[in-house]
Amino acid sequence: MSDIRVVVLPGDGVGPEVSRAAALVLDAAAARFGHGLRLEEHDVGYAAWQRHGSPLPEATLAACTTARGVLLGAVGHPAADRLSADERPEAGLLRLRSELGCYANLRPAKVDAALLDASPLRPEVARGCDLVVVRELNGGLYYGTPRGLDRERGTALNTLPYSAAEIERIARVAFGEARRRRGRVTSVDKANVLEVSRLWRDVVQRTSSDYPDVELDHMLVDRAAMELLRDPGRFDVLLTENMFGDILSDEAGAVCGSLGVLGSASIGGATGLFEPVHGSAPDIAGKGIANPMGAIRSAALMLRHAFGLEEEARAVEAAVTRVLERGLRTPDLAVNGRPPVGTVEFGEAVARAVAEPDAA
Ligand code: IPM
Ligand code: MG
Repeated sequence: MSDIRVVVLPGDGVGPEVSRAAALVLDAAAARFGHGLRLEEHDVGYAAWQRHGSPLPEATLAACTTARGVLLGAVGHPAADRLSADERPEAGLLRLRSELGCYANLRPAKVDAALLDASPLRPEVARGCDLVVVRELNGGLYYGTPRGLDRERGTALNTLPYSAAEIERIARVAFGEARRRRGRVTSVDKANVLEVSRLWRDVVQRTSSDYPDVELDHMLVDRAAMELLRDPGRFDVLLTENMFGDILSDEAGAVCGSLGVLGSASIGGATGLFEPVHGSAPDIAGKGIANPMGAIRSAALMLRHAFGLEEEARAVEAAVTRVLERGLRTPDLAVNGRPPVGTVEFGEAVARAVAEPDAA
């Protein structure tokens, strides 16, 4: 069998540290299950801008479009504020998401039993949290034109466009996910204010008729933000547009103990993109203390969604759980009085746990 070719984009800040840990775990999974895996690194973000003058060099894009999967660390740098809109590290990531055509971003957020004490919510409330945010990733405010900033005149503009076709295709992903889970979709919008949300609600409602076995409700985004803290267990699949999904998924991360624990899968195009939900965390970059769980879980999602390797994905997820059960935690989660471990130590522990035969 030929090797599975994966492009790793370490990026900025803690990105290189967490993606290194995830690559180690991927290698361990490939070795245990006998797959040939070829990891190849390319530049993205501020690091790419520094080396090549672009946050998404053509060589990086070309490597990504021909790979079986792309594993990204993080992008973003404090020094990037002086760059033009097109040169910003985030612009590179947005272009990559769009060029790969991965319009569906799945962000599973399930609180780990071993991490209940790290959630800011009472354990009996946090315990129920087992949801997936299905975030539209190729449209909305992030991409809408016209857009612009005129600092002299003190004006700025962004545009929030969505077509029925864009809404329908992401809704179908959400309904499909619900079928594999507890059969419930909550579509989040701001239909009391935004025309776009009214179209969103119409199209989601109409699309739901193809999924009579899935229960659908609609919720305004402000209420959804509140319910996520009051009773996260009420949600199964949270379907929402790009910007709302960005915001709600950080909130879901906090509910699970730390933004560092969530991974994500961006699918829908020929090549899937897998990245932790957290950002580049410049304040802790290079200190070896970043939580690699989000990156490792993204690697598990790559095994599942990009390669169809369900058993391998579960082995990685089970290995993370076992390492947490043994009490290993990075500082973002270390509220239990035990000394934390670093990124490398945590990643190596997961890689070792993957290699143990009972991990699946
Ligand atoms: C995320 C991040 C990105 C986003 C940034 C880095 C552009 O916050 O993946 O949630 O807003 O999509
Ligand atoms: Mg975000």
